[in-house]
Amino acid sequence: MEKTGIVQWKSPSNIAIVKYWGKKDGQIPMNASLSFTLSQCITDTKISYSAGNGKVEFFYEGQPKPEFFPKVRMMLDNLNLDFLKDFDLIIDSSNNFPHSAGIASSASAMSALALCITDMQRNVSNLDRDFLSLASIRARIGSGSACRSVFESAALWGKLESVAESTDEMALPWKSNLHSAFSDVQDWIFIVSAGTKNVSSSAGHKEMNSHYYRSGRIAQAQQNMIQLIQALKEGDWNSFIELAEMEALSLHALMMSGNPGYLLLEPESIRLIHAIRQLRKNTGWPVCFTIDAGPNIHMLFPKSIEEKISDWCFTELPNYISENRIIKDHVGDGPVKVQ
Ligand code: PMV
Repeated sequence: MEKTGIVQWKSPSNIAIVKYWGKKDGQIPMNASLSFTLSQCITDTKISYSAGNGKVEFFYEGQPKPEFFPKVRMMLDNLNLDFLKDFDLIIDSSNNFPHSAGIASSASAMSALALCITDMQRNVSNLDRDFLSLASIRARIGSGSACRSVFESAALWGKLESVAESTDEMALPWKSNLHSAFSDVQDWIFIVSAGTKNVSSSAGHKEMNSHYYRSGRIAQAQQNMIQLIQALKEGDWNSFIELAEMEALSLHALMMSGNPGYLLLEPESIRLIHAIRQLRKNTGWPVCFTIDAGPNIHMLFPKSIEEKISDWCFTELPNYISENRIIKDHVGDGPVKVQ
């Protein structure tokens, strides 16, 4: 077994269609969720390990980053892995997109870290389960939504009666349940604001514990999951659009109606929502929006209309947002091991 080594993974963000919002102790979700795995918004993490006694150093983009360290430390502590106690770690991480801007940077960051830790375990000890399942469980401990990022294309996380093998513990790969109409979904992200959010997702999850609409939300998410699974299987873009937009607006409605209520959407976000709905109405194209816990708007559509969408962006979007604030992402192949 190796005593020194390097493991490195690039892991993407994901965008939930049915949103995970609210959790119980141990990062157990209040409701099941389903997401597309992206490909352009990536965290690249490298762990250099050597025999030692559990010391951890963390660098972000080559510099020490004390404000990110507690989350990393907490994840490693919560994993409580015996083999880690005999090693010192140097963790080097970088993102190719703005963190804390509602592009689920925690999903790519925590999944990359979980993949590295699991890979390291494979080198220095042994794995008692399938590699990706273990990585998904560990990513969940770091950040709930991260457990879905370890699988290519799409992933389902959380117990759902109608999906026998589903569990709160980890995500399941969902690629084989997608109709070909959903094999090449594009996600163009309009960066309304790349600043740090003023209310974190953790605070938002917490508010769901005593939220007035808690039980209604659980019922809504369950029903939306069942319908989304069906729409994805049948290649039904109309139902998909209805569900994606309902979920996005419900997520933000829950934030607004919590105690204290808060608002992450900006005037530009609202203008973009109207523009996308107007575009769909005028053209009949299968295009819709979804939104994460932030002000940025994700525009979803199949690759077949990419050129038309591009033309629309060129002529219409300068009224809303500048070209350099669009990240052109798409459903992707999942994490990649470097080297
Ligand atoms: O994984 P967290 O704790 O950052 O929560 C993310 C929750 C949403 O992004 C808003 C929804 C989701 O399912 O990804």
